Amino acid sequence: MTSNSPKINKLPFLVTGGCGFVGRHLINKLIPQGSDIWIIDNLFTGKHPDIWLDKKFKKQTNKDKIICYQSDEQRIFFVNDDVINALTEDIKFNNLLPDFSDVFHLASIVGGRAIIDGDPILVAKDLAIDSLFFLWATRRVKRIKRILYASSSAAYPIHIQNNKKHIALQEAMINFSEKFGLPDMTYGWSKLTGEYLSRLAAGRYGLSIACVRPFSGYGEDQDLSYPIPAIARRVALRENPLTVWGTGKQGRDFIHIDDCIDAFFIIMDKIHDGSGCNIGSGKILSFLEVLEVFSSLEGYKPEIKPLVDKPVGVTHRYSDIQLISKLGWKPKISCDEGFGKVLIAAKNRLLHDLVSYVASNGKSDINNFDFSGIDKSEFLNNDSLDQLKDSLKII
Ligand SMILES: NC(=O)c1ccc[n+]([C@@H]2O[C@H](COP(=O)([O-])OP(=O)(O)OC[C@H]3O[C@@H](n4cnc5c(N)ncnc54)[C@H](O)[C@@H]3O)[C@@H](O)[C@H]2O)c1
Repeated sequence: MTSNSPKINKLPFLVTGGCGFVGRHLINKLIPQGSDIWIIDNLFTGKHPDIWLDKKFKKQTNKDKIICYQSDEQRIFFVNDDVINALTEDIKFNNLLPDFSDVFHLASIVGGRAIIDGDPILVAKDLAIDSLFFLWATRRVKRIKRILYASSSAAYPIHIQNNKKHIALQEAMINFSEKFGLPDMTYGWSKLTGEYLSRLAAGRYGLSIACVRPFSGYGEDQDLSYPIPAIARRVALRENPLTVWGTGKQGRDFIHIDDCIDAFFIIMDKIHDGSGCNIGSGKILSFLEVLEVFSSLEGYKPEIKPLVDKPVGVTHRYSDIQLISKLGWKPKISCDEGFGKVLIAAKNRLLHDLVSYVASNGKSDINNFDFSGIDKSEFLNNDSLDQLKDSLKII
């Protein structure tokens, strides 16, 4: 801590996994509340706060693993460590972390379908992360006001998410006092187990905990290993034929990240017993329909090419939103609007990648840049960035 620390009256927040996609958006919404924020993230997939944190926060100290960023009003502490190590050390020595108001536990190995299906034992580390998290939380019951546990729609039984039988997934379909079905791979097992631990930690230790079950969250700055930004990039490149994983008939319930974070706060205010609440639109959109929305936003009609050897997961996953509607939330951002934002972001990313590529490789090597679908001659004949932007139809 620095001697000229701002005066903070409220307890700080903690966000584990705060450098990830959801965490960055959450932190941007927590900052206006004025309290200090602690982040624990080992940057497994997350981005360093130097890259994304509001520039009003100036880097102060870089002692051991903790970096402090300070504005006139508040501080953000970044613990660059595995959450398992950081929390184990705090349990052992009780010297790392302060008391907290709200704790958001997001740290997890997630990834798109390629990781969930392709490296399930890597993803199973989430079981260790969550069990250690709840061990830590139950050792400091009086020092935490509330917890939000990031569960997932992947915790729901997969036998009711297929072609033959599918229904809108309702919270009560995960019921720990009855039989329950197989969740989605080790990712789903870890979320189901995390929800069970949440209920125990709330019921037996008296912690206030809410579990959130986001369906398919997406947003402008999401990693390209997720379908929506990956499709947006291919459309921005005017790929033709436009590829889709599997037949494209499999569907998901897409929810924009801004809506998702708004839901976090509402759910945390209303649920305290460790039970779960869906965050979704209540609608299913097949990937073929997703391609249709994107290509019509871009104004072209590509041929669709299914990639049948790619993993696709269950065929039908969508939420029942009665509970969250009763809590007073509904999504504000339609898929048309949200996908439109992601498409613009994809074009900007593409432009950025292209400019960096040319800066380090020169124009003569441009054929090696993944430029499929774009008329390279536009760029080769012309130095002007504006014209390049024009050719990519960047607004
Ligand atoms: N994005 C979605 O649509 C979605 C849907 C359902 C559930 N969730 C849940 O929300 C949470 C955040 O997801 P996301 O999309 O931001 O994923 P993400 O991969 O972008 O973020 C996860 C963060 O956790 C960090 N992390 C991973 N292992 C860690 C460890 N051992 N110690 C410290 N940090 C670690 C990563 O570096 C990353 O910053 C996850 O728990 C995920 O299961 C997300």
